[in-house]
Amino acid sequence: MMPALPEPLLDAARRLAHEPIASLFARDPDRVSRLSVGWEGFLVDLSKERLTPDVLAALAVHARGAGLDRWIASLFDGERVNLSESLPALHPALRDDTGVPLVVDGADVRPGIAQSRERVADWARRLRAGEVRGATGSPIRHLLHLGIGGSDLGPRLVVDALADARGTRPGVSFVANVDPRALDRAIAPLDPAATAIVIASKSFATGETMANARAAIAWIAAGSNGRDPRATQVLAATARPDRARAFGLPEDAILPMHPAVGGRFSLWSSVGVTIAATLGNDTHAALLDGAAAMDRHFRTAPFERNLPVVLALAGVWNASALGHRQRIVVPYADALTLLPAYLQQLSLESNGKRVTREGAPVGGRTAPALWGGVGTDGQHAFFQWLHQGTDTVPVEFVVSAAPNGGDPARHAALVANAFAQAQALAFGRDEASIARDLAAEQLAGAALARAIAVRACPGDRPSTTLLVPRLDARALGALLALYEHRNYAEGVLWGINPFDQFGVELGKQLAAPIEAALVGGAALPDTVDASTRALVDCVLRATDKG
Ligand code: F6P
Repeated sequence: MMPALPEPLLDAARRLAHEPIASLFARDPDRVSRLSVGWEGFLVDLSKERLTPDVLAALAVHARGAGLDRWIASLFDGERVNLSESLPALHPALRDDTGVPLVVDGADVRPGIAQSRERVADWARRLRAGEVRGATGSPIRHLLHLGIGGSDLGPRLVVDALADARGTRPGVSFVANVDPRALDRAIAPLDPAATAIVIASKSFATGETMANARAAIAWIAAGSNGRDPRATQVLAATARPDRARAFGLPEDAILPMHPAVGGRFSLWSSVGVTIAATLGNDTHAALLDGAAAMDRHFRTAPFERNLPVVLALAGVWNASALGHRQRIVVPYADALTLLPAYLQQLSLESNGKRVTREGAPVGGRTAPALWGGVGTDGQHAFFQWLHQGTDTVPVEFVVSAAPNGGDPARHAALVANAFAQAQALAFGRDEASIARDLAAEQLAGAALARAIAVRACPGDRPSTTLLVPRLDARALGALLALYEHRNYAEGVLWGINPFDQFGVELGKQLAAPIEAALVGGAALPDTVDASTRALVDCVLRATDKG
């Protein structure tokens, strides 16, 4: 088994593990400029990470040795980078409007992509113009977006980030969970005659989404004098038009997506119809445009000046060299409240793997657990643990430099808090300064020592700050593409195929017989273990079926 990083880099990590971040600053006055990378108003500041410019340069050399240049070119050239499923990964092609042919399996995929985009834009325009009407003739005023995982998180984040303070027009509700409460709560305030359903499912077979789709269709029919809404107010965004047809949807209600677009990347596909319909085609186009600009940067910038690459290098360094098993993302932007959940799926479903694309064990650790929460809220929740807990966990601060409207003074307070937290994590607070602050209390001996100990923040806790110029549609598109490419580059450095997700299939298969037992009293197969049997019995008794 090959180690994830070459021995000299692992050696450097062992040495740096004992060097305070403050001393890294002290010994290199140019540290900030040497560890900062900018692009179109974005800035990645790695200076508070536990690495040096030399380490970053050595990581870039390692990335070249791992063939990252070749893998980047293969991604954009439509080659089969998803080895296990023998597919390219076409999400960058969805936002590329150069028209340069992209041949996959002997055919140019661009015309199909352009046609799908036109159909999305046309439906969005008609909906916003009040031209889409339901079964009873009512104009549609609300969308119910049904999807889960990538078919939910991307569009939900974008709409949440870019909607203005009054929400969107038409309105929109997202439902992912099969828990009946999720759909029931979403539809309670809605008029079924004026609501259209978007079934967002690449496979058009995901249990949760299809169960919610059937329930939502029944709700609309019940509220529309029994008229079946499928011909008028249900839309499918899917790579399986055959299944959507079999579900009873007419051809013009099916917006296709290419099978080589992964679920985690589907917001750029026809799944983005909800974005276009609720925010408008101009905003949707600006989002794609920003992502395309980041694609060009990722494809062409030298590794040392390439935002996704330097973030990937730091990510692999933290996980595989320094051994951090968690990664915390804290957007200081209410608009990015959903970013940690979105990145959790992007990173963990992509790189939460233990074998390489060739099926051999990966050397060392791969993607760390990813979680987080919006700032400043997180400061009153998990930041205590970050500052004084027993674990050291790298944090990523995502900060919008300029406010998108709103009170500039409170935006300044927001930014100040982000920078102060990163500063406190890196440099802490020494005992002498605490003692000075406590002087008026006239403590001595054990009481003074105790008072100092509980207040001391050791510092030396690494972080990255990612500054975004402002949170408009273009910058958001670029930000999401930045994270996609970072994720891809990390996968390449670990030797992983980030585009499959076989690990999620087993649970889906095992759920079917359990559901049959819970709903219809079917006997569980002999292969079901004793613990699961006992739990099923308990639920049957609780629901008066046992
Ligand atoms: O959780 C597995 C997964 O396949 C994700 O990759 C995907 O985003 C989600 O389920 C939804 O899949 P679909 O779009 O096919 O309904």
